[in-house]
Amino acid sequence: MSIKISIFTGKGGTGKTTSAVNITASLTKKGRSVLAIDTDPQRNLFSIIAPNFVQYEPNLSNLIKQDVGIREVIQQYNGYHLIPTSDNQNDLNTSIENFTALKDSLNEIQDDYDIVLIDNSPAFTYLTYSSIYASNYILSPCQVTNECLDAVLDLMSLVNNIEFKNLNPDFKGVGVFFTQYNLASKRQSLLNRNMLENFRRMSRVFGFKLFSTSIPKNVDINGALAQHKNIFQYKEKSPVATAYEQLTGEILAFVNMGGE
Ligand SMILES: Nc1ncnc2c1ncn2[C@@H]1O[C@H](COP(=O)(O)OP(=O)(O)OP(=O)(O)O)[C@@H](O)[C@H]1O
Ligand SMILES: [Mg+2]
Repeated sequence: MSIKISIFTGKGGTGKTTSAVNITASLTKKGRSVLAIDTDPQRNLFSIIAPNFVQYEPNLSNLIKQDVGIREVIQQYNGYHLIPTSDNQNDLNTSIENFTALKDSLNEIQDDYDIVLIDNSPAFTYLTYSSIYASNYILSPCQVTNECLDAVLDLMSLVNNIEFKNLNPDFKGVGVFFTQYNLASKRQSLLNRNMLENFRRMSRVFGFKLFSTSIPKNVDINGALAQHKNIFQYKEKSPVATAYEQLTGEILAFVNMGGE
């Protein structure tokens, strides 16, 4: 049965899509079968994984409106299996009637993939809720800042809520990792150390996993993005590639799929 993972932080620009791309690539390199789903109308996931993609119909909006079955919206590109999103936010506004459509559809293909990875926008829309509702885990890329810690705590209040637990009894937990991680100046590193301690303390209080691997801030990410490549295609020996590979091992252990 596939493990469903949403990538979500309620703060923009934290590295969700970059992480979705590179974790998908790293899982694939490790021999895991992955279905990656784009829910963000900006279509950033597709612009990197599938840069020359043109087949945007049918897409996620048709799936959540139940116009088509899930097998009809899965596209293959360069060996990746993907569900494209609509570029029109209005098409993606789910309502209470189709809130369960994503989860129900994923249940239909539960033996087809090891992992389903869903990239989300930072907004708490109905679609985000329905993707969290369909998930067993949430991965939250974060910077070492108060704003990101607040975003994680908001998320924890949602998933620790008894009604959410009743609604999604298959939900197992939240994992947080740092991206764009930078220990530049001495002053910053002192601030960083205090913030890191806050994250550690809150992970114990609220019960989220804090991964040991952090993704460094590195220009290779921008180089890779500019060429619409994942970091392994762009520069296999980049410190960011090594970090994403190591993080993926930790993620596999977190979701009880063995790790390395
Ligand atoms: N490890 C990194 N090193 C340097 N820059 C990075 C790194 N990760 C992400 N970035 C930069 O941060 C920007 C935002 O990243 P990304 O699009 O992955 O964030 P996001 O959380 O998906 O944003 P949104 O909330 O808009 O969906 C990227 O365009 C890139 O320039
Ligand atoms: Mg994004």
